[in-house]
Amino acid sequence: MIYLDNNATTPLDPQVIQKMIWFIQEHFGNPSSLYPIGRQVKDLISEAREQLALAIGAHRSEIIFTGSGTEADNFAILGVLDALPDKKEFITTAIEHPAILETARYLESRGYIVHYIPADHYGVIDLDFLKSVISDSTALVSVMLANNEIGTIQPIEEVVRIAKKHGVLVHSDAVQAFGKMEVKVDKLGVDLLTVSSHKIYGPKGVGAIYIKKGTPIKPFVHGGEQEFRLRAGTENTIGIIGFGEAIRVLQERWKKDKERVEKLADRLKLGLEQSLTGIKFNGHPEQRIKSTINFAFPGLEGEAILLALATKEIYVSTGSACSSESEEPSHVLLAIGLKPEIARSAIRISLGRFNTEEDVETVLRELPEIIKRLQEISSFHPDEF
Ligand SMILES: Cc1ncc(COP(=O)(O)O)c(C=O)c1O
Repeated sequence: MIYLDNNATTPLDPQVIQKMIWFIQEHFGNPSSLYPIGRQVKDLISEAREQLALAIGAHRSEIIFTGSGTEADNFAILGVLDALPDKKEFITTAIEHPAILETARYLESRGYIVHYIPADHYGVIDLDFLKSVISDSTALVSVMLANNEIGTIQPIEEVVRIAKKHGVLVHSDAVQAFGKMEVKVDKLGVDLLTVSSHKIYGPKGVGAIYIKKGTPIKPFVHGGEQEFRLRAGTENTIGIIGFGEAIRVLQERWKKDKERVEKLADRLKLGLEQSLTGIKFNGHPEQRIKSTINFAFPGLEGEAILLALATKEIYVSTGSACSSESEEPSHVLLAIGLKPEIARSAIRISLGRFNTEEDVETVLRELPEIIKRLQEISSFHPDEF
């Protein structure tokens, strides 16, 4: 099989598997227990926390483990807004992941005013819009670092500069950026940042949030004293240990991985461009996570391309995995100005650590055949688009 959907999830790194197996065999203690078998697990969780802190340039007391990236996003927004009850406005973007957008809708249902920053054709957000809506009533601005569907990287430092002028806090969803580009909280200047384990070759069901010291935030889960009393509940010990190991491995190799994967992505993109007339690439040509390649084939259905590739055991996506069962075209592609029928024809290929040159060559051999066949059986009229 050729797995090209690494933005949806990544396979576990073998070193992560080893560490998790070792952990299950050797440790079962509750990290809150005071005797040695509990303390040992607590120490291992601290090590994982330290790994993440080191990776993003934070202090370990600023890291809270959560049950997913989605939970971390919810926590960042709802926790800050709960702590600032006098501020009833929230700003985010039209191209966020549902983890943010659905939280924003929930806020609207509770009477908050939400401003959605639009994006241009490349998926870069409009900073003038942000300047025009930010005010003393704004509690928080949340802007993703890299988009999961088209890979476009947002100018977070600029967002922070604008927000700080108004004394407004900034959160960034870095789930797709972490592991693919440098993510340092001090450089970015953000107050809160979200990451997720299963996008960096770690286990699913574990995420984390960075909360800068001094940030006003209310607890998200009430109960025991775990996670500095902000997110109660006995820890997902095995998930956190796996996540910590995934971050350790990442630290060792992300730069080399990035170079190699981007070379593969360049080769794939160029090959597609040369062999497929009518292909339209989405996302910013430069300011992008290069391993994410999103393209449309006017006149075809993305889902038909996906299914035809799946029969060859080549796995890609039509967009965000979380919304791939909905009939609606991608909200991101619509927000960057694609017509619904073109958005519906889009395919996302996302490469990762375990992809090879052979994978790329196979796609370049198979995809043009598939497109040709689908174009023959569809009522394709190029002039209509
Ligand atoms: C940008 C972004 N944010 C948040 C999430 C949600 O993370 P999780 O799957 O850990 O809930 C994803 C997952 O696809 C994502 O791509």
